[in-house]
Amino acid sequence: MNDDLTALIRTIPDFPKPGIAFRDITTLLLSPAGLAATVERLVLATRGRVDLVAGIEARGFLFAAAVAVPLNAGVLLIRKDGKLPGATIAEDYALEYGQDRIAMHADACAPGARVLLIDDLIATGGTARAAVRLLRKAGAVVEQAQFVVDLPDLGGADRLRAEGIAVDALVA
Ligand code: PRP
Ligand code: ADE
Repeated sequence: MNDDLTALIRTIPDFPKPGIAFRDITTLLLSPAGLAATVERLVLATRGRVDLVAGIEARGFLFAAAVAVPLNAGVLLIRKDGKLPGATIAEDYALEYGQDRIAMHADACAPGARVLLIDDLIATGGTARAAVRLLRKAGAVVEQAQFVVDLPDLGGADRLRAEGIAVDALVA
């Protein structure tokens, strides 16, 4: 069903390190029809009321904002540590190709806010799981996460599901 989107995503070998097959969604973003279909399908996959869509830097921001508008939700930014101006809470995590730390404003969501997590891609799940830990620390209710791309061999979506999150991805 999403073969049209798969065809718009290209693979760059050995980026950012030798041995990594980088799934590049910039080519999907260049396609008006592909971008519209991606956003529409993410919106359709959403269950229940959403107060905030949390987007993960950097490519997750693009989809989070586009999905939030038709859902009448706000956008909560989850950024690489050191970028947000207010008081933050942060989490460390391991990547397929390194180590990083993400942060959100400590006052970004009211306790009990229903938050949908969105990113362009899930690989090991390290980033998304750190985002869920952060959001839950802030008092958010996080029950669903959506991705344009899942790399199932890396197991991230299954790890996220094991933490009680309903995971949707448009292409694998
Ligand atoms: C990529 C991607 C996800 C993350 C997935 O971001 O956009 O956020 O990796 O990997 P994981 O499931 O193994 O954690 P990246 O860290 O490359 O940052 P960028 O979006 O700022 O380029
Ligand atoms: N983030 C982590 N692994 C990735 C990959 N293989 N392609 C694109 N983004 C990624």
